[in-house]
Amino acid sequence: MQHDVVLIPGDGIGPEVCSAVKQVLEAAGADIKWIERHAGLGAIDRGSDVVLPASTIEAIKEYGTALKGPCTTPIGGGFSSVNVALRKTLNLYGAVRPVRSLDGIETRYEDVDIVVVRENTEGLYSGIENRITAGVVTSIKVATEEACDRIARFAFKYARTRGRKKVTAFHKANIMKLSDGLFLKCAQKVHEEEYDDIEYEEVIIDAGCMRLVQEPKNFDILLCENLYGDVVSDLCSGLVGGLGVTPGANFGEEQAVFEAVHGSAPDIAGQNVANPLALLASAVLMLRHLAETSGDESLLEARLKIRAAYNAALKAGEKTRDLGGDLGTKEFAAALARRVAAL
Ligand code: NAI
Repeated sequence: MQHDVVLIPGDGIGPEVCSAVKQVLEAAGADIKWIERHAGLGAIDRGSDVVLPASTIEAIKEYGTALKGPCTTPIGGGFSSVNVALRKTLNLYGAVRPVRSLDGIETRYEDVDIVVVRENTEGLYSGIENRITAGVVTSIKVATEEACDRIARFAFKYARTRGRKKVTAFHKANIMKLSDGLFLKCAQKVHEEEYDDIEYEEVIIDAGCMRLVQEPKNFDILLCENLYGDVVSDLCSGLVGGLGVTPGANFGEEQAVFEAVHGSAPDIAGQNVANPLALLASAVLMLRHLAETSGDESLLEARLKIRAAYNAALKAGEKTRDLGGDLGTKEFAAALARRVAAL
């Protein structure tokens, strides 16, 4: 069964890591037809006057699923962030970032297995900023009952369907009593009314960050509003080997966009040193989503093969530079494709 997926190569290291991921998915026998569209500088370079062209949005609406490389947001020139615009336009309200220890990547911690669930549409990302007077500006944090309730439901449902035991809400309601207070109230209500079989706790985010680096094993699912989720995802990614290995997915009611947590890494773009693993692991999340939504179980097989291949490769020391290895992006992709094909 063939699956149509929109591919947005993105900017910087985006095209390199996308091409590596396509190669490995093909070797695993995942039958995917890529519908290529552009966003970010990639769109501007192709003559668009906006970083998020309507043709890209329309394609994601039509096909429902996209794999996206990182996009650079040009500084100045009035461009807003592609990622924020994409999430808001398609109402991709729930970001999921699984953070797991990987064999073959030495870190200070073992057996980390945390899923960060991030609210994607409001908070301080609402872009409501005002210049009050010379030297005084404000940035407004927005919390709505609808979005707080929706993300709480999403996190608890995710916990139940994936056999997870605990949801921890990170907050600062002691200071932001109204906005973070509403976020907590909604989570409490959803927990009490529908999910009292799942443990629920609330932790003030500063103490939560300390506890995360002291004993990450104490956490399971982290429920965060937008900015906290952004910061905490990168923190968690540091527990398991960094941005080069942390996948992500953004879900709405109708569409899902899969992308790594990292950005376009302009400092290493075009040098064949980027680690494609984070985008590959995002594609593995995508295969599960496609299998669940289409019923095509062969994708689950491809998913398991890819995971087995990268676990074995990492254990054997086949790694990119960021993980202490010496393989280039292309050489690592070829090694993974060889391993996948041999399974
Ligand atoms: P970044 O994530 O691109 O880079 C941070 C550091 O991590 C750099 O030293 C980079 O070389 C390294 N790194 C990132 N991904 C890597 C990989 N796959 N393999 C090896 N090393 C890797 O963050 P930065 O520099 O803050 O942002 C660069 C651009 O990316 C900005 O324009 C930003 O707006 C955009 N960005 C886009 C995102 C997206 O499209 N989802 C997410 C985050 C940033």
